[in-house]
Amino acid sequence: MTETIRVGLGNRSYPITIGDKAWSGLLPLLEKNPFTSSITVIDERVNALYGERFFGLTDKIDKPSFRFIHPEGEQSKSFSCLESLCRDMARNGMDRESMVFALGGGVVGDLAGLAASVYLRGVRLIQLPTTLLSMVDSSVGGKTGINISEGKNLVGTFYQPEAVFADISVLGTLDGRDWYSGLAEVLKIALALDAGLFEYLESVGDLGPAGDLDVTRTVVAACRQKARIVELDEKEAGLRKALNFGHTLGHGVEASLGYGVLRHGEAVLLGMRAALILSTRMCGLPSDQFQRAINLLDRIPLPDVELPHDLNRFVIKDKKSLGNRITGVFIKEIGKHEFVSLDDPSVLVEALKAE
Ligand code: GLY
Repeated sequence: MTETIRVGLGNRSYPITIGDKAWSGLLPLLEKNPFTSSITVIDERVNALYGERFFGLTDKIDKPSFRFIHPEGEQSKSFSCLESLCRDMARNGMDRESMVFALGGGVVGDLAGLAASVYLRGVRLIQLPTTLLSMVDSSVGGKTGINISEGKNLVGTFYQPEAVFADISVLGTLDGRDWYSGLAEVLKIALALDAGLFEYLESVGDLGPAGDLDVTRTVVAACRQKARIVELDEKEAGLRKALNFGHTLGHGVEASLGYGVLRHGEAVLLGMRAALILSTRMCGLPSDQFQRAINLLDRIPLPDVELPHDLNRFVIKDKKSLGNRITGVFIKEIGKHEFVSLDDPSVLVEALKAE
C-alpha cells in the first residue's frame, strides 16, 4: 500500500510516494518523463544494503547510468565531494535532461540536490530517502546544502526534486540512533504544527525501531505538514521557519561539538528542550502541555554530552540570523508555533544550561 501527497508548486509540483515498496512507482514515472542519462548518488553503506535492489530497477531503463559512491557521514557534505560529483557528471557527458537519483539519508539528499541544482545550472532530480529523518524532512521541500567549518549547511540552494519516493521497507536496517534522530524531527513537526500527530505519538506504546509506531501513517502525517508549509513559503520568508523549531540551538550544538558527534535529530532534541522552556516564559505555553511535551521528548534516547563553553558563538552563526537577531521558534500550545525575534540568542543556551 502506498500513499501519495502532492507538493503544489505550479509547474514545479511533485508527488511524494510513501509506503512499503514505494520504489515500484519509479519506473512508470520515468517512462512518462524520459531522461538522457542518470547518476545515482549513494553512500557506501546504502550501496551495500540496497544498491543491488535499486540498480536492478534502473538497469531496466535503456539509458547510460552512472554511480557516485561516497563515504558515509556528514563529512561528505563538503566542497571537495561536491566537486568530485560534478566532475564525474561532466566526464560522463551528462546533459540538461540527465537525472540525479539521491538514494540515501539527509547527507546524500543535500549533496546530490546541490549538485543537481548547480551542474549545468540545473539538471533533473529525484529524491529516494532511506532514513526516517530524510523521509519526514530533508528530502521534501528542496533544501540542498553542504557544510563549511564555519557552520552547517551554510552553502546551499533551494531546488525542488521532480518526485520523492519514501520506501518504508528500507527502514528495517536503520541503526537505533538514526531511527530516534528521525523521530526527533517527527516530534518537531508535531510540536510546532500538528497537535493530532503529537497525540498519536503520545499514544504509541513502544516508539523504538521495531516498536509500535505505524511508520507509513507517521511519514504521511509529517509530509502533509511539510508539503503545506513549502507550498505557502518555499523560500523560508516566514512560515517555513516553523520547521526550525529546536534547530537554532541544535545546529549550534552540532557545529560546536564537531559534525557527527551527535546525530542531527539528537542535537535538535536539545534545541527543542530549550525552546520548550522558553515557550513557557515567552509564549505562555501552559505547564501541563509543557510537561506532556517534555515527557514525550524524554522517551527519545539521547547520549550524554557535555555542552561546549563556546556554544553561543556557533548559535549566533546560524544562517537564519539577520545581523545578530534570530527568529526564535517557540510554541504557545502543542501544535501551534509562535515566532519571537531574539536580540540575544544566548537565552537559548542559558535555558538549556540552567535545566
Ligand atoms: N528542514 C527544514 C526545512 O526544510 O525547512
